[in-house]
Amino acid sequence: MAIKITPDEYKIISKYVNDISGIILRPGKEYLVETRLNTVLEEFGCASYSEFFNRIKMDRTQTIEKKVIDTITTTETYFFRDKSPFELLKHKILPDHIDRQNTLKEGKGNVNIHIWSAASATGQELYSLAIVLKELLFDVSKYDIKLLGTDISNKAIAKASYGSYNKFEVARGLSKERLQKNFNQDESSWKIKDEIRAMTFFRKMNLMDPFIGLGKFHIILFRNVAIYFDQELRRKLYEKIAYALAPDGYLIIGSTESLVNDTSLFVPKKYLNSVFYQLK
Ligand SMILES: C[S@@+](CC[C@H](N)C(=O)[O-])C[C@H]1O[C@@H](n2cnc3c(N)ncnc32)[C@H](O)[C@@H]1O
Repeated sequence: MAIKITPDEYKIISKYVNDISGIILRPGKEYLVETRLNTVLEEFGCASYSEFFNRIKMDRTQTIEKKVIDTITTTETYFFRDKSPFELLKHKILPDHIDRQNTLKEGKGNVNIHIWSAASATGQELYSLAIVLKELLFDVSKYDIKLLGTDISNKAIAKASYGSYNKFEVARGLSKERLQKNFNQDESSWKIKDEIRAMTFFRKMNLMDPFIGLGKFHIILFRNVAIYFDQELRRKLYEKIAYALAPDGYLIIGSTESLVNDTSLFVPKKYLNSVFYQLK
């Protein structure tokens, strides 16, 4: 049976979701909460959202909270999303970065390439990057590559780490050649090849938490996630991102996103049809 959320319950649940994830549930999105959370309420035998909220507060294991996060987040993503950022990476950012590192290292030691997909969802973004690196470098073992994907959703991280996708997912953004070259087909699913998967590392991380122990990255992808937060949180996040970015590093945001109203820590740069950002 459909469980309706009352206006007061909606206020409580949206504040709770905002507290744990930064995600804003604006007034008028009651249907979204109902469509996504009703199954969780049913699973935990709750007849109302008030009862559900009480259960959450009593749940020391945070099992329900994890379910709420998995359910409320929008993990929409696909391989080579928006195409142009990956062309930009392949033809401009990565060659420039490698040249600079070669000059710095004067031929001694491996070139470091540290990249972070800061809301990696189910992994397509980071695997697209790994594929680009493989195509560009041929022998990746000659480089010190660290490709980190993080996301708040346990479910998304588990899927990303496993690296297996169904026929609809691989049909979105992957050419036939890239699919054949980088995936093994297993009945109805395609699993990313071990050599690609070994380049990546996924772990759960809430962007609201301090970015401790991550180190510095040469490239940060922060795409299609800022839209879920309010301006104040976005401003704070860009400060933390600026700190996590190496001095000559690159920040890439979503094709429809802009930093104009949120931060002045970065300067936009253009290459063909793509925009990327570097520290001021
Ligand atoms: C629409 S997806 C974007 C995926 C990918 N970056 C892309 O552009 O295709 C947004 C992701 O942000 C994650 N997310 C939302 N709030 C977050 C938070 N506070 N910390 C970390 N990840 C979060 C969601 O779980 C979701 O996987």
